[in-house]
Amino acid sequence: MFGRRSEKIPNVPTAPPAAGSTAPSAAPHPAASTAQQALNRAPAAPPAALAPAVTPKVMPAQHVNRNNTLVSARSEEYYDIKTMVFTALIEAIDLTQLSLLDNNAARNEIREIVNEIISIREVALSITEQEKLLEDICNDVLGYGPLEPLLVRDEINDIMVNGSDTTYIEVAGVTEQTGVRFRDDRHLMSVCQRIVSQVGRRVDEASPICDARLPDGSRVNVIVPPLAIDGPVLTIRKFRKDRLRLQDLVDLKAITSEGAEVLSIIGHVRCNCLISGGTGSGKTTLLNALTGFIDVEERIVTCEDAAELQLQQPHVVRLETRPPNLEGEGSVTMRDLVKNCLRMRPDRIIVGEVRGSEAFDLLQAMNTGHDGSMGTLHANSPREALSRLESMIIMGGFSLPSKTIKEMIADSIDVLIHGARLRDGSRKITHITEILGMEGDVITTQDLFVYDVSGEDASGKLLGEHRSTGIMKPAFWDRARYYGQEAELAAALEAAEVRDY
Ligand SMILES: Nc1ncnc2c1ncn2[C@@H]1O[C@H](COP(=O)(O)OP(=O)(O)O)[C@@H](O)[C@H]1O
Ligand SMILES: [Mg+2]
Repeated sequence: MFGRRSEKIPNVPTAPPAAGSTAPSAAPHPAASTAQQALNRAPAAPPAALAPAVTPKVMPAQHVNRNNTLVSARSEEYYDIKTMVFTALIEAIDLTQLSLLDNNAARNEIREIVNEIISIREVALSITEQEKLLEDICNDVLGYGPLEPLLVRDEINDIMVNGSDTTYIEVAGVTEQTGVRFRDDRHLMSVCQRIVSQVGRRVDEASPICDARLPDGSRVNVIVPPLAIDGPVLTIRKFRKDRLRLQDLVDLKAITSEGAEVLSIIGHVRCNCLISGGTGSGKTTLLNALTGFIDVEERIVTCEDAAELQLQQPHVVRLETRPPNLEGEGSVTMRDLVKNCLRMRPDRIIVGEVRGSEAFDLLQAMNTGHDGSMGTLHANSPREALSRLESMIIMGGFSLPSKTIKEMIADSIDVLIHGARLRDGSRKITHITEILGMEGDVITTQDLFVYDVSGEDASGKLLGEHRSTGIMKPAFWDRARYYGQEAELAAALEAAEVRDY
């Protein structure tokens, strides 16, 4: 049989389970007997014995039912059984051969061997329990192990694994602990290794930090000991298949419909835009939504660290930076990409995240006929976004006077859109702000829309509202007129004004 090391499942004591998972014992089948005892103890309650029951250590009570997003946690006994079956499987199967099989064939092979192990070791499991065990083991051998059930859940935004015992997820802006755990740090490390090896990298003591991407586009960061003190840490920003459109942001109350209309006009009439906000505030999502208003005839070049944007236009060129290889060579920076873009005759340049000296090139591009270029930037307020942009240019080694840099910023950027993840987990577009020009040494701005927090309800949800600032003729009015969007802009601003009263 293909993939199998020997026809016979060795019915010999399994190697002691890896450190930390079960207590060592002198009994011939330590894991099996513990599991058997466990099952014998509670014969009347099959699912409870193995179960989505919650171990207090892993899942504090307050995490159990919040938002109904509990991820099934399983008991110690279940992990013991799984460790035993897994170890026996690894002894019986040739993993290299197995990797040559397609997924279904490999699953069938594993299924057959696991069933044999279960019957030889006389592990008493119901059909449902056996199916669950099989699924978990297949995930371990063929996929990303305990992460698999989290990866298939579309509503999860982030998965954060802090060592083998603790995994958090973020759903709808709220972070909560799950019952997901790995056998031990070695198991977690092997999952990390499997993820990063897919993008031709490796992670170990010598290179303890690594960025990677899952085949579905999710972004992954791994940092392992000795840098991560308490075990490997894996962070996944899940890739959302159903990208949020501007209308979805309205439905989610991130912006009003009038605000969204103004944003769509800003996107369409080729204002140069910067989107700012904190980590996970929805910058990339908003950038993605804004690109939906770009004309299908435009040639767009996108530059990203890890391709996340999903542009719908036909004429898009996607570029991605490259980290240095193990020898520290061969890196291609964001600046290299943005500079190269300029030789590619783009109509618009979209920079996923502006972090460094590429800020200079993006501003130059915005200033030299690539109207409607866009980018995101990490900042806690629109003001801070402007000062961070200036610092990036200074730190990039351009020896320009501060005033010149500010002038460059004021000349290039038309609109700053700022978003925030509020403390109740909701995400809001808090500012739509125009850059007007310079007054002395200061960049002058004017807000068109702002979000004000007014209080908090009994359940801790923040109360607040978007309001227009009453500007009826924004600085990009002429641009809107040029693109025939004057009436739409006036209507949206008027409607916003009416709503406020
Ligand atoms: N207005 C919103 N309401 C709810 N979820 C949102 C909203 N905007 C973004 N998200 C979700 O939040 C997560 C982080 O968004 P992202 O745009 O990647 O943030 P950033 O680029 O600022 O780090 C994503 O999973 C995204 O789907
Ligand atoms: Mg982002």
